Amino acid sequence: MPTATELIERKRDRGRLTDDEIAWLIRGYTGGSVTDYQMAAMAMAVFLNGLDDAELAAWTRSMLHSGEVLDFSDIPIPKVDKHSTGGVGDKVSIPLGPMVAACGVAIPMMSGRGLGHTGGTLDKLESIPGFTTGLDPARFRSVLESCGLVLAGQSETLVPADRKLYALRDATGTVPSIPLISSSIMSKKLAEGLNGLVLDVKFGSGAFMKEIERARELATTMVGIGAANGVETVALLTSMDAPLGLEIGNANEIRESLDVLEGGGPADLVEVTLALGAEMLVLGGVSKDTADARVRLEATRTSGAAIELFAKVIEAQDGDPRVIEDRSLLPSAPKSHEIAADTDGFLSGCDSLKIGVAGMRLGAGRERKEDTIDPGVGITLHAKPGDRVAVGQPLATLSYRHTARLQEALRVIDGAWEITQTAPSPVPLIADKITA
Ligand code: URA
Repeated sequence: MPTATELIERKRDRGRLTDDEIAWLIRGYTGGSVTDYQMAAMAMAVFLNGLDDAELAAWTRSMLHSGEVLDFSDIPIPKVDKHSTGGVGDKVSIPLGPMVAACGVAIPMMSGRGLGHTGGTLDKLESIPGFTTGLDPARFRSVLESCGLVLAGQSETLVPADRKLYALRDATGTVPSIPLISSSIMSKKLAEGLNGLVLDVKFGSGAFMKEIERARELATTMVGIGAANGVETVALLTSMDAPLGLEIGNANEIRESLDVLEGGGPADLVEVTLALGAEMLVLGGVSKDTADARVRLEATRTSGAAIELFAKVIEAQDGDPRVIEDRSLLPSAPKSHEIAADTDGFLSGCDSLKIGVAGMRLGAGRERKEDTIDPGVGITLHAKPGDRVAVGQPLATLSYRHTARLQEALRVIDGAWEITQTAPSPVPLIADKITA
């Protein structure tokens, strides 16, 4: 076997690595015989020169097998998960999980925490008093078996190579690389023991990928990795130019998710939830097509099946299900500040990046991994792009605890709204579907 230095030099010079060399490298890095500085140089070489299809398949497989791979094949219902590349106001997993599970597809969902301007499902769920997301493998399985849905954090034993490599990439400017992102996401999803996977790949100002063509490339790469590993994967490309729904912030987003589960909620959030859920029911073999799936999903909201299932999951994960009946049990912020339209016209832009960063500055998100969040603060939008607005009409309410943080948030949110005299042309929320 060549040395790590020789492999780095080869990738630096645009050569290719064999399956065995990649397996050796990832194994060595996980075990400590390949050092952080060598892997940092390799990550940069991959960032600059990419991986071909065979290298990417080997890289993902080696990451996947760096730790435990879950096996739920004894649970006799299809297992399908959904993953979003992250956005502002993207609370879709929370209403989606109970709706899909109520239709008979099991979801062993492992989610992340918010970092930067995007929120994280775990932080949102933890705003429900008592709710725990740190489950050991036995408890993870038992909640999945009893509820058909479990909403937890990534297990320590799953894909340890990614835990190390992601932290290293974060510190070495090598995160935004399509082969490194796709192998990182897909190795973790493939370790969940799934029959199918639906990806929500976001594009636009508040997304990781600003350009739709980059989002398409990422989606196509991940769908290909899923197919190569026997997990049917479908991706939707969805817009993140404006926040999804009207609520940003942890408890705020739980409130809005409960609205969706009870049959209400803003149209864009409901649409993305139904579209992703429909793909999950089709992949799970419960629906023959997405039209049938949407009818079933809608029925879970009107019959009460979805909210009942969510109550059961909350209880199984030590949370207080009374939040469903009494939303005042969720944390809230003591003070609020309103932002109003400064002219008449049509709202033509509502910049999700600025709004996401403002939410983070209020304390709803983390600037650094070790920061603590304030579950009660957030931003409520009162208008969406395309709406007619009048001067003085409220565009958003910022709920806050500390005046200094409000001032910071107001500074970054400045210019987030664009008002024009003519109505903006509607932009599709769901731009495309990528299949293998
Ligand atoms: N999310 C991940 O899990 N990995 C990446 O590389 C980027 C986003």
